[in-house]
Amino acid sequence: MDDSEEDQRLPHHREPKEFIPLDKLSELGILSWRLNAGDWENDENLKKIREARGYSYMDICDVCPEKLPNYEAKIKNFFEEHLHTDEEIRYCLEGSGYFDVRDQNDQWIRVAVKKGGMIVLPAGMYHRFTLDTDNYIKAMRLFVGEPVWTPYNRPHDHLPARKEYVEKIINRGGNQAVEAR
Ligand code: LAC
Ligand code: NI
Repeated sequence: MDDSEEDQRLPHHREPKEFIPLDKLSELGILSWRLNAGDWENDENLKKIREARGYSYMDICDVCPEKLPNYEAKIKNFFEEHLHTDEEIRYCLEGSGYFDVRDQNDQWIRVAVKKGGMIVLPAGMYHRFTLDTDNYIKAMRLFVGEPVWTPYNRPHDHLPARKEYVEKIINRGGNQAVEAR
């Protein structure tokens, strides 16, 4: 994405537009699926993912002023760059939004999530979230066991989850480049 200070809800494409393949997100440790959000209650694929990854906890969160208590403060906090000590798992049931994540060179990548899109950000990965100009998302939140939503705003590089992410994902690319020389 670009680095302009314009409204966070705008697309923030670079000029000219740049797109990256989903593989790039996998390299960063992100998982993603396209599921049938219209019938999520009976979706065998969702059931399989939850079983395979141990996502026992589930709730549904409506991000709009009427349904989200403390809306303005939460919107602001979502967009502060932060990490968690566990995965962040979100499944878009309605509406849309942007997850911004950092690549190996600390550049922002803006991931547009729409109805049916499910994304897993690994523990220790810096990210932020914003609604887009449609101003609405209904998201399923999943978790392994009792949920911990605590955001650690950047910098929190000393946390074990961060160190593990850096070792596994960020430094891995660097080492390969060295070996390839
Ligand atoms: C969260 C997202 C919005 O932590 O990053 O809930
Ligand atoms: Ni988060």
